[in-house]
Parts: sequence; structure tokens; C-alpha cells
Amino acid sequence: MYAYTLNQYQEAARHIRTKTKYQPKIAIVLGSGLGELAQKLEYKDTIPYSEIPHFPVCTIPGHLGNLLFGKLNNVPVCLLQGRFHLYEGHTPQTTTFPIRVLKELGIQTLLLTNAAGGLNPDFRVGDLMLINDHINFPGMCGLNPLRGPNLNEHGPRFIAANDIYNQKLLATIKTLAQHQNLDLKEGTYACVSGPNYESAAEIRFLKNFADAVGMSTASEALVAHHASIKVLAISTITNVCISDPTSNNTPSHEEVMTASQEIMPKLTTLIWELLPKI
Ligand code: HPA
Repeated sequence: MYAYTLNQYQEAARHIRTKTKYQPKIAIVLGSGLGELAQKLEYKDTIPYSEIPHFPVCTIPGHLGNLLFGKLNNVPVCLLQGRFHLYEGHTPQTTTFPIRVLKELGIQTLLLTNAAGGLNPDFRVGDLMLINDHINFPGMCGLNPLRGPNLNEHGPRFIAANDIYNQKLLATIKTLAQHQNLDLKEGTYACVSGPNYESAAEIRFLKNFADAVGMSTASEALVAHHASIKVLAISTITNVCISDPTSNNTPSHEEVMTASQEIMPKLTTLIWELLPKI
């Protein structure tokens, strides 16, 4: 789908409202292998994506496809257990459909998580990186979720994109990490379409401009920002990108899933502590 109407977002939101009494202000998108935060959710309402009008369907292992409502550390939240990617064949408008539904539900803060390959030579598998900026390669080449008729009810046609990642939220989470003695990295996220991991030459190219690379997040952040939703995004570094074409060390989906599950407790603690401070 290349363009949705406000009515379609509102139909989805109306359905969701009939299935839960929660009206959270915070939503969290759980990336590859990061669905585990859902196990901590108390008093949970589960709404399968497949039951929500116009919602896309998840096609990848590790992305369950549920919208969850409940409380984390006493804070009402909405969790998106599974997201949509360009590489599944979705348009950028479809990958970001849930974000506009969240806006219609009254969400004011969006926390995006993802699995990413480390480009920065200082990064190790298991690191967490705060995203403070992005390069949206598909977006720069026309696969931009804001392309097409503008949704004036959410935001204007031309928006600034130098301030997508909320400075206040970044400061709050950095202070928290200091108190937890947690080494949080910070940097630029390069979004690529996938589904292949990058060639050695692509990695050498990307290393000039970005600290981590992944196949999601930038479009969601952009659409949320367009709708004046505050955005915080965290990458889990699941593999180190190899720029040597003769290396036998190649990334795989299994490696990414295993690493994200290992990083999950660290990320869970951080988000748990952060929520009451938002
Ligand atoms: N490249 C792109 N996406 C990814 C990677 C990677 O190395 N690791 C996890 N997601």
C-alpha cells in the first residue's frame, strides 16, 4: 500500500480501543529477538495484528505479531511485538502503519529497539547504542514513508529531520545508565533495506558515516517525528560488520537472534528503570 487515509488509521485505533482499557502514553517497538520484555508486562491485553483492520502481517521468525497493553514497572505501556520491514516487500507506508495508529491512540513517546551490526571499531557484540541520528538510505532514494499525500492531521508536509531523536530523553537515559554503571554507546544508525547483510565494500562505505547498520527504525522514527511523537531509539549490537571480503566470519539471522537474546536482560533493566522517568 502506498497511501493510507486517516480513516484507516482511525479504524485500526477504534478496534484496539474495544480490546483494552489501557490508554498508555508510551509505546515500545521490540526488535529482532527482543520480544522478551513482553514477559515482564503485568495485567496484559494481547491483540494479534491479524485481528486489527488494515494492520500488516509479520512474516519473519522472531517477530510475533501482537500488540500488547499492560504495565511495566507500574507504567502503562503499549508493546509492539514484531515490526514490518521493507525487505518483506512492504512499502515504507506499510512498515510505518502502526506508528500512525499509535498516534491515533494518544501515544506521546515512542521507544524503538532494534538489532544492528556494529560499524564503529570500538563496538563489541553485546553493546547497546543510543541512536542520536540516522542515515535513511532507502528514504534518500525515494522509499520515504512521508512520500505521497501528506497526512496534515498529524504534521506538515515539510519537516525538519535534524532533531528526530529527542535530546531530553537521550539525556535522561544517559544519566540512568551512569547510575547503573552501564557502558552505553551512542551514534548514527544507517538504515538499509536488506534482506542481505552488507557486502564488504558496502561496510567500508558505511563505516565512513555511521556507527551501526540495520534494516528498520529510521522510517518509524521519521513518521513518529512527523506526528510530534518524541522518539528514543536503542540498537543492540548483535554482530560486528566485517569489511574484509576474504573473511570467513559472516553474519547470520541465527547469530543476530542469539546475540539479541543475550543482550536482552541488560536492555530490559534499562527500559524498566527509564519508564517511570519519562
Ligand atoms: N546489517 C544489517 N542489519 C542487521 C545487521 C547487520 O549487520 N545485524 C543485525 N541487523
